[in-house]
Amino acid sequence: MTAAANNAAKQTVLSAVQTTNNLHLGNYLGAIKNWVNYQDTHDCIFFAVDMHAITMRQNPKQLHENTYQAIATYLACGIDPKKSIIFVQSHVPAHAELSWVLTCHSTMGELSRMTQFKDKSAKNQSSSKGEDSIPTGIFTYPLLMAADILLYGTNLVPVGEDQKQHLELARDLAIRMNSSYPSDGFDIQKVPHGTKDPHALFVVPEPLIGKVGARIMSLQNPEAKMSKSDPTPGGAVFLTDSDGDIERKFKRAVTDSDTEVKAESQSDGVKNLIQIQATVTGETYDAVLNKYVGRGYGYLKVDTGKAVASAIAPIREKTAEYLRDRSHLDQVLKAGREAATARAEKTLNEVYKRVGFVRQ
Ligand code: TYM
Repeated sequence: MTAAANNAAKQTVLSAVQTTNNLHLGNYLGAIKNWVNYQDTHDCIFFAVDMHAITMRQNPKQLHENTYQAIATYLACGIDPKKSIIFVQSHVPAHAELSWVLTCHSTMGELSRMTQFKDKSAKNQSSSKGEDSIPTGIFTYPLLMAADILLYGTNLVPVGEDQKQHLELARDLAIRMNSSYPSDGFDIQKVPHGTKDPHALFVVPEPLIGKVGARIMSLQNPEAKMSKSDPTPGGAVFLTDSDGDIERKFKRAVTDSDTEVKAESQSDGVKNLIQIQATVTGETYDAVLNKYVGRGYGYLKVDTGKAVASAIAPIREKTAEYLRDRSHLDQVLKAGREAATARAEKTLNEVYKRVGFVRQ
């Protein structure tokens, strides 16, 4: 049986990471670590998102490198090209094409309400010339993300907490398009209330947000999520960091003015360290907390740094190995591009037909 036929009965899991910088601990614990588990039970699609990356100005050489780096990291984390489709977003033009159709079915209002847009534009506005400096791509970003998801009949999208609102928009757009463009002969006015179109244009996707690790905070500013663009050195732990760098970043992690771990309540910084250690070791939050109650913060910092370093070391080493063999990476990407294109083109063709475009 072909992989495609074998996967036909399975639910589709799809996710992606932007190639704006090296991947960090939040990307790993909030997303990639969870992807691996679906490969034996689901039809899996994972890709590197370079078109979203250019919503902020990128150094072209760096972007090129980061894209290979992201794919090598996926492989190093256990994403297996024999089980999953792995590709680069810009290799499949259908993403940009569907994104345009969705742009024409969305409103300025719903895009303005996206918190990620509000945050990024607030940063841009405070730094320079107000709205004139906000790239349009940051505004329309969630539409490209919705296209990424809807092209593949995706059922489940494993992501961190910060992507929840984008997923809700993708769901709203799927529902809107399904009712605007029903299948031939399906007339919503003539069927009992609640009947679903058996040939609906899009599957309505669900977010899959892990109970642990879905929101890893900056080690230097524990009120803000860990991010690739963390302005404070040491705030983000990258999957390329050496053991020594990782342990140092944890030793310097911001906690609070107390000195020891309390059972009843913990500050954001302490919670973050416990959460990270629990996610990396597979223990519960309470089990980790209990080990440190009454002990100085230093123990928690040192042990968490060591646990993270030993989880990241094999990923770092394997990523470097994969990066040394570009032709293997190119082969993986070629196979992924072909498989993804075949599926995406089918959906796009159906969208164009239902919208009324002349097809040849
Ligand atoms: P990106 O590249 O910002 O992040 C990639 C994944 O990592 C998760 N994540 C985190 N999880 C826990 N704690 C953190 N501090 C943290 N920071 C990031 C994100 O939730 C995400 O799951 N728009 C997406 C990329 C994207 C995408 C898609 C995702 C484009 N198209 C289609 C899923 C499906 C983004 O910017 O993720």
